[in-house]
Amino acid sequence: MAVAGGSTVSDQTEAAQPHWSSRFAFVMAAIGSAVGLGNLWRFPAEAGANGGGAFVVFYIFCVVLIGLPLLLSETLIGRHGGSSAVESAKTVARDSGVSTGWSALAGVGVLGAFFILSFYSVVAGWVLYYVGVFAGDLVGALGGNLAGGAFAGQDQAAIEALLPALFADPVMLVSLHALFMAVTLFFVARGVSSGIEVVAVWLMPTFFALFLGITVYGAFTGAFAEAVDFLFAFNPERLLHPDVMLSALGQAFFSLSLGSALMITYGAYAGRDTNLAQSSLIIGGADTAVAILAGLCIFPIVFAAGLDAAAGPALMFVSLPVAFQAMPFGSLIGLLFFLMVGFAALTSSVALLEAPSSWLMHRFRVSRGRAAILVAGAAFVAGIFSALGYNLLADVRPLAWWPSFARLDILDSIDTVTGKILLPLSGLLTAIFIGWIADRRLIDAENGLSGGTQLLWRFLVAWLCPIVLTAILVLGIFPGLIG
Ligand code: PHE
Repeated sequence: MAVAGGSTVSDQTEAAQPHWSSRFAFVMAAIGSAVGLGNLWRFPAEAGANGGGAFVVFYIFCVVLIGLPLLLSETLIGRHGGSSAVESAKTVARDSGVSTGWSALAGVGVLGAFFILSFYSVVAGWVLYYVGVFAGDLVGALGGNLAGGAFAGQDQAAIEALLPALFADPVMLVSLHALFMAVTLFFVARGVSSGIEVVAVWLMPTFFALFLGITVYGAFTGAFAEAVDFLFAFNPERLLHPDVMLSALGQAFFSLSLGSALMITYGAYAGRDTNLAQSSLIIGGADTAVAILAGLCIFPIVFAAGLDAAAGPALMFVSLPVAFQAMPFGSLIGLLFFLMVGFAALTSSVALLEAPSSWLMHRFRVSRGRAAILVAGAAFVAGIFSALGYNLLADVRPLAWWPSFARLDILDSIDTVTGKILLPLSGLLTAIFIGWIADRRLIDAENGLSGGTQLLWRFLVAWLCPIVLTAILVLGIFPGLIG
């Protein structure tokens, strides 16, 4: 059983700080937060839209050299502080004898998590819709042709029309968004060990079993070689393109749940016996493996059906269902696939709700239930705009004044501003804080590293992260600078 973390006893709520019931629970919850729509929906879409290989290479660079060092930095801030992300960062600053203004790094993250939650739940609502569609189809198929593909008797056009029809229905979109947010709220309100942890410990292993099964199935039935070629063929002319780099960086942050106060929040529930460096490696490794495997799961199916790899967000919701139509046992595979995506999304949305709720709980001393209801309610309302951006507000372009982002609809604008700006900004502040400002002895005592790995980590956090993050942020946001 873990003991209360953090060396500070100044905060009286410390005694009430909940903890994971085991190291396994911490790692599963953190992997659960990391693995989600980011891996299954966003990664293949981004890789496809950015030309495959170059994106993937730079993505891996970002994960290993920037993501992992920051993951450790965030979890250690959390464990030392043992409170909400903002309070934990304040404690580290206070114990280092520097300004508590540095807690802004977590404040930016909390804001990011809130906005991601707002649209994440909308997209997860689409997943629920497809779970329903395939479940209905399976029931139909049970009467007769179970071994056949999905939607027997329907043509491709009818299946392609499903998503536009859903998008055109604001009531349906908002209802599914409400349903998903309510389920998320239910688990967060139950608390760390009886809610968040339960979801992670049960759903993540189920997710992995389904995921591996479908990937192997896709590898045998789909165009596997073509997918490998697409994802890993090296196209150097695109590698250093600022757009591709910013996309890969944003994706790495989004996927690893970095810069969103989350890893600080979850780190705060970790016991002193948890090796944070080792856990970070496992979390980062699992998340990257799932992203790459998701590519190897989705693209073979897409290529085998002769569909477009650059279909973007529609890849998972249009291309895959079309492909399932042609596959043996398509209804069953489709149902299992979308169930699996739903599980992964839930363990992430729970995390997205927990980070801002924990801040509210500690900042205003409100109960967990109240804090979670307030955040979920506000995120639900904010998410309605993203949902309506597909129908009633389809012409709205919130960033019309910003050349590189001018064409984005409401959901994509929020996604872009958080993923490409807020999260990397929080990461940059974290790197500067941990690399240069915070007390070294305090950090060394938390991070579980020694010798060469300690030096390497310190170099990456103090030098590489700030330089690369600043360069990419500036180039990505002001593409005109390099002509
Ligand atoms: N990492 C999650 C995903 O890939 C999204 C997320 C971001 C969750 C930030 C928590 C915090 O889907």
